[in-house]
Amino acid sequence: MKEKSLPQDSVVDRRSFLKTSSAALAGVAVSQLAVDRFAHAAASDELKIALIGCGGRGSGAADQALNTHGLGPVKLVAVADAFEDRMKGALNGLKNKHGARVDVPEDRQFVGFDGYKQAIALADVVILATPPGFRPQHFEEAIKLGKHVFAEKPVATDAPGIRKFLAAADESKKKGLKVGIGLQRHHQTGYLETIKRLHDGAIGDVTALRVYWNGNTPWVRARADLEKQYGRKITEMEYQMRNWYYFVWLCGDHINEQHIHNIDVGNWVKGKYPVKANGMGGVQVRKGRDYGEIFDHHTVEFVFDDESRMYSQCRHIVGCWNSVSEHAHGTRGRADISGHMIFGEGDRWRHRGQGDPNPYQQEHDNLFAAIRNNTEFNEAHNGAMSTMSALLGRMATYSGKEISMEDALKSEVNYFPDKLAWDALPKSLPGPDGMYEIPLPGLTKVV
Ligand SMILES: NC(=O)c1ccc[n+]([C@@H]2O[C@H](COP(=O)([O-])OP(=O)(O)OC[C@H]3O[C@@H](n4cnc5c(N)ncnc54)[C@H](O)[C@@H]3O)[C@@H](O)[C@H]2O)c1
Repeated sequence: MKEKSLPQDSVVDRRSFLKTSSAALAGVAVSQLAVDRFAHAAASDELKIALIGCGGRGSGAADQALNTHGLGPVKLVAVADAFEDRMKGALNGLKNKHGARVDVPEDRQFVGFDGYKQAIALADVVILATPPGFRPQHFEEAIKLGKHVFAEKPVATDAPGIRKFLAAADESKKKGLKVGIGLQRHHQTGYLETIKRLHDGAIGDVTALRVYWNGNTPWVRARADLEKQYGRKITEMEYQMRNWYYFVWLCGDHINEQHIHNIDVGNWVKGKYPVKANGMGGVQVRKGRDYGEIFDHHTVEFVFDDESRMYSQCRHIVGCWNSVSEHAHGTRGRADISGHMIFGEGDRWRHRGQGDPNPYQQEHDNLFAAIRNNTEFNEAHNGAMSTMSALLGRMATYSGKEISMEDALKSEVNYFPDKLAWDALPKSLPGPDGMYEIPLPGLTKVV
């Protein structure tokens, strides 16, 4: 939406670009030299996009990536989804809007758990928008093949996933790849302006933050409704995949899936990540067979290494106080960060934001401009550490213990299934009453 001009300083011609891409396609290890050459696309080069995870956000992100055509030609060339119905729906919508820029014949549409590999191999830029449990595996593959990536947040659902993502993030840096993470507040003018002023000392030293995602329950896909819709029994794996929000291995709980945005803003203001956390949470109201194993509320006190605090709340309970916001308190004033207002000593400032670019579009404009200009753009490490901060909070609420970031990062608790197949069993299964086990503070082990 905003990025308009693009310097034309490419040193790579289309032939070498294609040559290295097809080397990756053939499964050949991508050398540093090869990556250096094709990590840089000229404005006139067509960037081929693959979409992995064709749901609501994946469709939105693909639309935004295709909207960058003003910077240079872009084409969606491959898609992968666990489910054919989701894939076809997204493709139809994108085709209606973008016409020939959506060039995905049937032999470039991949269904199932392994389709991501084929789709990634065909692209220059990959959009990863499945539920976050798959992100580490998909990101690792994309980086291995030397692709630029837009990965939705969060980037994992447990510490082993974070470690895999971080290792691939390091690799992406070495290869000069560009990585955008869907924490779009980093591309939203109001946040950029406010946080710049906070970093310049507008309220002195920030001693406390308050961050909230208190709202209503999101969608739920009940087993009975799904079986009615598809006219057949569905396996436990299919059920959890379709109702992914309520399972830790897929979603990471809502403190990870939604509240990461606000925790990430707190980290951004501090310029660092929490070193420990304690908290509490549970399932007070949202109970029932189709609500899986996640909590309906969490409250966490995060501690930074300078003893400052970030107080966090997230809640999915109807009829309560709702707020999705971030606030900072400093030695010389306070700020309503999400409201883009600063109340300094005798000095008030506000960014009104009318006419600001859409941050969801802006993050793609910035990523694609960086790919074409070969400028530094890699949000992978922050994406991983802000995800890890949310997971640290979850570890604190699930266990009821104070957990250090150091121990959390080393945690071997792995929620991911041992095998991915429609007839394989996830680790968390319903009991005889159809209910899933909910974490019990004081007993549940997280590290
Ligand atoms: N940045 C934001 O503001 C924002 C907003 C919404 C969602 N998101 C994030 O985007 C991601 C997707 O969310 P959504 O709302 O689009 O969910 P969704 O359920 O609409 O879409 C997820 C898609 O991924 C597919 N999928 C699941 N497992 C897969 C696999 N192993 N391989 C290929 N495809 C697979 C599903 O079938 C589905 O089509 C989540 O991480 C979510 O947190 C970010």
